[in-house]
Amino acid sequence: MTQPPSSSLSRSEAYEDSQNLGINPSDNTTIAEVIGRRYGRRDVLKGLLAGTAVAGLGGTGIAALPASDAQAQAASRFTFTEIGHGVDRTHHVAPGYDADILIRWGDAVLPDAPAFDPQRQTAAAQSKQFGYNNDFIGFLPLPQGSTSSNRGLLFINHEYTSEEVMFPGIGRQEAKDKLFKDMTRPLVEIEMAAHGASIIEIEKSATGKWGVVNGSRYARRIDAGTTAMELTGPAAGHARMKTKADPSGRQVIGMLNNCAGGVTPWGTVLTAEENFHGYFWGKPEAGHAEERNHKRYEVPGNWYNWGQHFERFDITKEPNEANRFGWMVEVDPYDPQFVPKKRTALGRCKHEGAAVIVNSDGRVVLYSGDDERFEYVYRFVSARRYNATERRANFGLLDEGTLSVAKYNADGSVEWLPLVFGQGPLTAANGFNSQADVLIETRRAADLLGATRMDRPEDIEINPVTGKVYVMLTNNIRRKADQLDAANTRAANEWGQVLEMTPPGGDHAAQKAAWSLLVQAGDPADARTGAKFHPQTSRNGWFACPDNAAVDPQGRLWITTDQGEAWKKASGTADGVWAMETEGPNRGLSKMFFRVPIGAEMCGPCFTPDGRTFFVAVQHPATDGGETFTQSGKGSTFEDPATRWPDFQPAMPPRPSVVVITKRDGGLIGS
Ligand code: FEO
Ligand code: CA
Ligand code: CA
Repeated sequence: MTQPPSSSLSRSEAYEDSQNLGINPSDNTTIAEVIGRRYGRRDVLKGLLAGTAVAGLGGTGIAALPASDAQAQAASRFTFTEIGHGVDRTHHVAPGYDADILIRWGDAVLPDAPAFDPQRQTAAAQSKQFGYNNDFIGFLPLPQGSTSSNRGLLFINHEYTSEEVMFPGIGRQEAKDKLFKDMTRPLVEIEMAAHGASIIEIEKSATGKWGVVNGSRYARRIDAGTTAMELTGPAAGHARMKTKADPSGRQVIGMLNNCAGGVTPWGTVLTAEENFHGYFWGKPEAGHAEERNHKRYEVPGNWYNWGQHFERFDITKEPNEANRFGWMVEVDPYDPQFVPKKRTALGRCKHEGAAVIVNSDGRVVLYSGDDERFEYVYRFVSARRYNATERRANFGLLDEGTLSVAKYNADGSVEWLPLVFGQGPLTAANGFNSQADVLIETRRAADLLGATRMDRPEDIEINPVTGKVYVMLTNNIRRKADQLDAANTRAANEWGQVLEMTPPGGDHAAQKAAWSLLVQAGDPADARTGAKFHPQTSRNGWFACPDNAAVDPQGRLWITTDQGEAWKKASGTADGVWAMETEGPNRGLSKMFFRVPIGAEMCGPCFTPDGRTFFVAVQHPATDGGETFTQSGKGSTFEDPATRWPDFQPAMPPRPSVVVITKRDGGLIGS
């Protein structure tokens, strides 16, 4: 009855494919059109984004022929020796650094967790062990409120599961000839337990090596199947949030597809529910009450068969359950009893992550991208001010305030359009009867306001040193030739770009800010790509498909990539970490620092406050594009994966893991 997303794609490939759909039905201006108007369509079509007219693109010019490695190193503030593009079965880091495995899928989180046995997995064991597909990493110093860089908590998202390399003997269950037939209730329960987040305590020893503290009182697993959460803010308790299991519309079990996130100034974590639609199942009848809403989010995605075993994920039986996902979730990692809060004031979409800052006027500002082709960039400004002395006074700050969506104008300004019920088109005439309606259908509200349709907004990071904001726009292969213009000069943009916003006088709450492009990703030596990096970027310094980012304590930007199964075509290198210059004459110059094993994507970049430890998350090793890996040539399975990273034991499948990077001389990362 129900069709899976694809007959030939792995789970992660299916995710990627779904994000290609570009389901935004509005005819709002795309960022490509805006950039085209700004820089001139003719110039764009000729590929002539020359010189100072595009100050944001590399600063010193656009010629972008690869320089020698030596030249690039001499020019960069990052003094590490760059590693090379490439792909193989393991990870690589710049010389002079250690990149050690900190924790792997199946390792103990709770003190009574059983030893990991991939042949005999159970939900009970998984609920005490480190989950699957680690993504966002947040470091929270211990003691709370300190700037300790030797002891702290790590909050790690577990975005999704990849059954073909996770469970023995079943292969790809979404394939047309399988239709999830092997995904029994016990396996689904393991999947649910492998989603969510882990909180672990970690400590740096006298020898400079990090380890997990066993028996920590902070240790916690949050999952998709059992963790009670609270809905807060304007949509909580609304009729559209009520289900058979929760007539209050305020209680929900679990969080789904938590991708990136952010740490708040008061030391809580925001974890972003991204592709929640994939977990909903069934074939809803035409004309049901939530039809328009569900379609705008592609619900049901039918990527997992949880709805066969759990009624609430069957959209025909519980149509409102999907309205309770797609939110930003706030968790206090310092309180193991804390009930996670889904903050509905921040809007409902496929949130990639969150970047939070205390604004100059004391209000809290949060930026977030909606990761899908042609979707939008959002900003929230709190109504109340940050309380620096009383931590818990900030716990409701994200429940009251103004959510806005970005419109990127051709004059280099970005305008923030408020999503407020009763204002402009957000009225009963368009089906909005309350602020709850506006938030539940954030995307449709943003369509009506005329927001700019972007090239897949992934992570957003604020540089607190410069006050600038960086938006990773990962790619958009569905952009048509007739939408072509300026910096998005590329139809079928396979490589993405990084957009920079500069709030006026550092005021993140201002109605307008300036914007420009930092780089256009892709190979600058290949004129067909239209890539724009600093001209001295080496043959290894460029990248494709920016996804996550982090700013180190020196105010320097680090970018990680996710090319999906297209890695070979997009760049020919595995994903990794690149250090990126943003200021002065080196603006747009990047250097490759770390590389993941075949089939993985690079997630979770996170620094300790002293800048001497760098955590990264290696997600779904072996799964993406094993078919194009010459040493494998086929899709990975539990029995025959493209790599068995990080254990390389014959009986051990590949395991998503957190890697901790330190410099052997104890120095600053990238120094
Ligand atoms: Fe979960 Fe948009 O990456
Ligand atoms: Ca991501
Ligand atoms: Ca990703």
